[in-house]
Amino acid sequence: MDTYEAIMTRRSVRRFKSDPISDEQVWKCLEAANMAPTASNNQPWRFIVIRREQLDKIQSILEDSFNERAEAIGYAEYSRRIQELPVPAIDGDKIKGLRNFYKSLGKAPVAILVYVEQNPDPWRSFLNTQDASAAIENLILAAWADGVGSCWMCGPLVQKNQILSDYFGIPDKTLIALIPLGYPEEVPPSPPKGNVRDRTTWFG
Ligand SMILES: Cc1cc2nc3c(=O)[nH]c(=O)nc-3n(C[C@H](O)[C@H](O)[C@H](O)COP(=O)(O)O)c2cc1C
Repeated sequence: MDTYEAIMTRRSVRRFKSDPISDEQVWKCLEAANMAPTASNNQPWRFIVIRREQLDKIQSILEDSFNERAEAIGYAEYSRRIQELPVPAIDGDKIKGLRNFYKSLGKAPVAILVYVEQNPDPWRSFLNTQDASAAIENLILAAWADGVGSCWMCGPLVQKNQILSDYFGIPDKTLIALIPLGYPEEVPPSPPKGNVRDRTTWFG
């Protein structure tokens, strides 16, 4: 698969096979992440690889994170926001399906937690987030090119950043994303994507 094909075919995967992902495969994805461009070549990203047995131990934190987020937004509004997303539904209910995804991470055999140093300088913090995002995109595209699915997740971090960073022994860091990785049980269709021609202005 060439780069463009990987970009155009990648989907957020929310249901995974239980087949393990080899350490070599995880390292390959992390090497791709680590090659991302960064402001001043700062490379602020750090990664924690979390295997399934550890993911099982944080299920209740992840489920609580969903419930607290849904309550903060309001269930009706949350349902409206996700109605066009191909999230797996339970009994036709996408809220139930998404709650289950947060809790189980789609049964992914492994997940990557991406974090950066906290930085009091808003500009450096802005750059760090962009750097880490570039690394995440490299990671998920490299995974996809090898048949490994992923879902870039920030939702669990909104309510539980402190609890999760304490749990993983990095209390003073900023968590950027949690990314379950696994062989897809199901590749969902693309949610609607706008037309780039409507979003682009050319000057000259
Ligand atoms: C910054 C960011 C945060 C995201 N957080 C979540 C999340 O918490 N839960 C989730 O199910 N998907 C999450 N996603 C995945 C998006 O829902 C998904 O990328 C979007 O619906 C487009 O679908 P696609 O990735 O298949 O193109 C996130 C994606 C990004 C880039």
